[in-house]
Amino acid sequence: MLFKKLAFLALLTAAATAQVPKGKAFDHIFIVFLENTTILTRIPVSYYFALPQKDYDLAISDPALRSLFSSGVVLNNYHGVAHPSQPNYFAAIAGDYFGYKDDSSHNLDTSYKTIVDLLEAKGLTWRTYQENMPSVCYTGSSSKSLYYRKHNPFISFDLISKNAARCKNVVPSTQLQTDLQAGYLPNYSFYTPNIKNDGHDTTVAYASKWFSGFLAPLLSNPTFNNNTLIVLTFDEADDYTDKTNHVLGLLLGDAVKNIKNTVDSTYYTQYSLISTVTSNWGLGNLGRNDINKPLSNVFSFVAALTGYQNVVVTNPPPLN
Ligand SMILES: *[C@@H]1O[C@H](CO)[C@@H](O)[C@H](O)[C@H]1NC(C)=O
Ligand SMILES: *[C@@H]1O[C@H](CO)[C@@H](O)[C@H](O)[C@H]1NC(C)=O
Ligand SMILES: *[C@@H]1O[C@H](CO)[C@@H](O)[C@H](O)[C@H]1NC(C)=O
Repeated sequence: MLFKKLAFLALLTAAATAQVPKGKAFDHIFIVFLENTTILTRIPVSYYFALPQKDYDLAISDPALRSLFSSGVVLNNYHGVAHPSQPNYFAAIAGDYFGYKDDSSHNLDTSYKTIVDLLEAKGLTWRTYQENMPSVCYTGSSSKSLYYRKHNPFISFDLISKNAARCKNVVPSTQLQTDLQAGYLPNYSFYTPNIKNDGHDTTVAYASKWFSGFLAPLLSNPTFNNNTLIVLTFDEADDYTDKTNHVLGLLLGDAVKNIKNTVDSTYYTQYSLISTVTSNWGLGNLGRNDINKPLSNVFSFVAALTGYQNVVVTNPPPLN
């Protein structure tokens, strides 16, 4: 009887494992959002489109960030989708911001699926690491410290916040070290630095310095940097008169080791963070802007491996 039970369990485990799709371009994605990019907005738009693929010089950009460019792929045609901050965070996990162009607390009911639903349906793991979040699954709007709910989109969706098992994955960022020490990195991680480290209440220079310090030990951690794509981006352009909402994107990690020190000028938006993930693992889609070409181009090194057809965007649509 016990043997039968064990055999049955083994079968179940095998079936569950077999269902987990192999990532075509990476096994882990680790997304980090900074705030208020002032780095590129001072450079004329014509300049980005004229940038050569190599040997570029992003004038006036931050030295700490620039020092990372040679280790990764610069996305010089990446765009926020709205103002202020929060709609960009919603867009990155839900494929839409549902008309909420504000930073107030919203609870989207259980009809609103997110990337979490698509990941879990295929047995992939996820977690959001939130700096200074007071406790796991905290739903308050601010901790009176450095944590802000407007930068944690996961907690705004009832399918996550009202599901205890899922909400265990909405964690204070200190959990990252615990996870790595236990040899664990989820397939999908969304890391939100606190209001200082992300540059919101400080400067891009401060955020960039924080990020390079944060990143260095992770890059040499074999649990972390194991077929891992790190995406650094900014939520929105600081300059609201920039109708295209142009921000900087940067791909790092061993998933891009063969194409490091390059520039990718494909048109991307926050929705690309969903289409890239769904394309990598074959997860289907949310049926929102994650399938709205031209807003949903897939990071081109991933598209090349999955056969996804990106579209050329010569005239970036207004996204503010
Ligand atoms: C992540 O996904 C890969 C498939 O790409 C799978 O083999 C691996 O076990 C997953 N890792 C974790 C920690 O869930
Ligand atoms: C960043 O943008 C927010 C509005 O989204 C603003 O409140 C804040 O002052 C800005 N910070 C900097 C450093 O420009
Ligand atoms: C790296 O990933 C592979 C494949 O998923 C796994 O077998 C291996 O244990 C991982 N290495 C570390 C150090 O986590």
